[in-house]
Amino acid sequence: MTVAVLVEGLTVEFGRFRAIDDLSLAIDYGEVRAVIGPNGAGKTTLLDVISGVSRARAGRVLFDERLELTGRSESAIARSGVRRKFQKPSVFEALSVRDNVEIGLGGAGDPASHEKVAAILETVGLSEHADRLASELAHGQKQWLEIAMVVVSEPRVLMLDEPVAGLTDEETERTAALIRRLRTPDRAIVVVEHDMDFVEAIADRVTVLHEGRTLFEGSMARARADARVVDVYLGR
Ligand SMILES: Nc1ncnc2c1ncn2[C@@H]1O[C@H](COP(=O)(O)OP(=O)(O)OP(=O)(O)O)[C@@H](O)[C@H]1O
Ligand SMILES: [Mg+2]
Repeated sequence: MTVAVLVEGLTVEFGRFRAIDDLSLAIDYGEVRAVIGPNGAGKTTLLDVISGVSRARAGRVLFDERLELTGRSESAIARSGVRRKFQKPSVFEALSVRDNVEIGLGGAGDPASHEKVAAILETVGLSEHADRLASELAHGQKQWLEIAMVVVSEPRVLMLDEPVAGLTDEETERTAALIRRLRTPDRAIVVVEHDMDFVEAIADRVTVLHEGRTLFEGSMARARADARVVDVYLGR
């Protein structure tokens, strides 16, 4: 089976500070992988390097076992099918919900794209709000809109940074159900999150980062039982 994202010997430095330290990991198609760990562990930095926002000092990221992402621009990486939602929601407040999703598609504007937009709005549960301004949405709905903007382009790799931060319990449950719906055999989903019940509900495997390295990899149930994981993260 082809590996969706292969990270090999990745090191990222900010000045003399090493945010990612010789990190290697493999994420398969069809899986939902959660990347968890304490504040500053390097989770967002990892997504930044995969998506071309930050540069690697050493090592590489390979997409689909054929395309080296390291060194490519953010837009080239997005075009190749590796897409990412940022930690802070950023929708176009002055545009309609529908137009926001159209933008995610690159503005083709043909009948096929209208169908795609309608389908993804249905998937994220925003069909009835399609003509409202994005500014009128609740915080949770904005998160779903942003996911729709990314997913409408049918990414092979979908990365979400803290998709349930600030959401109510009910919104969090709906987001978990949404992520399960977005999982397909030819897509890898990577989720960074601090809400462990949410992680347990969605993730096949978790990677626990600590000081830029992998401390643990396996099921959430095993992570909860791992003394080192409890010590540096879950027990705090
Ligand atoms: N552009 C930057 N310049 C300098 N230091 C940075 C930069 N980006 C991240 N860092 C540092 O790298 C470390 C890892 O940051 P990162 O944002 O990846 O953590 P995180 O695991 O996502 O944490 P959180 O759970 O708080 O979001 C932190 O110590 C952070 O201060
Ligand atoms: Mg972060």
